[in-house]
Amino acid sequence: METQIISIDPSCIDREKLLEAADILKNGGTVAFPTETVYGLGANALDQSAVGKIFEAKGRPSDNPLIVHVADFNDIEPLVEKIPATARKLAEKFWPGPLTLIFPKSDRVPAVITAGLDTVAIRMPAHGIARTLIRLAGVPIAAPSANLSGKPSPTRAAHVIEDLMGRVDAIISGGECLVGLESTVLDISGEIPAILRPGGITLEELTQVLGEVSLDPALEEKMDSTVVPKSPGMKYTHYAPKAEMMIVDGAITAMIEKIEGIRKSKEQEGLRVGIMATEETKDSYEAFCVLSMGSRQSSETIGAKLFDTLRQFDEIGVDIILAEGISREGVGHAVMNRMLKAAGYRILSV
Ligand code: TXA
Ligand code: MG
Repeated sequence: METQIISIDPSCIDREKLLEAADILKNGGTVAFPTETVYGLGANALDQSAVGKIFEAKGRPSDNPLIVHVADFNDIEPLVEKIPATARKLAEKFWPGPLTLIFPKSDRVPAVITAGLDTVAIRMPAHGIARTLIRLAGVPIAAPSANLSGKPSPTRAAHVIEDLMGRVDAIISGGECLVGLESTVLDISGEIPAILRPGGITLEELTQVLGEVSLDPALEEKMDSTVVPKSPGMKYTHYAPKAEMMIVDGAITAMIEKIEGIRKSKEQEGLRVGIMATEETKDSYEAFCVLSMGSRQSSETIGAKLFDTLRQFDEIGVDIILAEGISREGVGHAVMNRMLKAAGYRILSV
């Protein structure tokens, strides 16, 4: 299939060009577009066969439900059975933005979107291109991250082109994603709202609005900081770079010492070692390839660079990535969640 690349400057949006993309969506095609979190691969959420094309292009398992993207709060009404008061409160505070809410779904939402669940995930993105595109298309847009299934989510158009060229109708090239991590997914159907996936809107921010917020138990278990030397199971191949990855977490000096020790022994085995470090520590290593995720002072900056850094290691072609852990506060929680997934939960605490 021929993929059209549509370049749009996010700071000066060309509506004519976006209209072309919106037409493709209206006609049942697939369009990748930037959002503030990551690039999404969009299709008309109410068109079952269009949504099917998303799964095909990504190689995504059909039991993984999609997020429906809307441009305005009123757009959610036809998609949901009811709008809980909590949702209104959260939308007021955090929409448009990197927060996905889980609602009881209406009959209009096709089962292919929700993987047969009776709930639907909805988000209103803050990115100008994304929101204008959805408005112009005039339909809700289903959009998972625009990567091949299993690869790190795309935060630049080049990542999408690498993964989906020839597999989708169009790719909007619209700059870098500022958050760089996928949205926070919050289930508000129970008594206590539960974070199913940490993201750009933090536990701390949600707690301030809601009082009590729980973390999905599965998430908590995996976030345990004790040593978890596990071989990666099938379900843990998310965000995986080609190289094997391992996280070393702890006080900075101990961490550097441990990473250097592992590096030396891996290099003796003849492996090319890449180190995923931070601005503060990058000069402490003698590895073949050291990449900085950004400053430890700002987990937002690290979040914005994480997936790009993982893809850079793939490009350079290292055999093993040794990654420094970072603080789990604020957005650091989401960063560590994605790093753990990328590493197949191999983490060593020192
Ligand atoms: O930031 C984002 O959310 C990006 C951009 C493009 O908006 N999208 C994204 O979509 O990350 P995706 O498909 O890669 O991740 C959707 C997540 C999955 O973990 C999926 O299991 C969960 O949302 N999800 C979708 N519908 C759900 C539902 N009804 N109940 C629980 N989880 C759901
Ligand atoms: Mg994804």
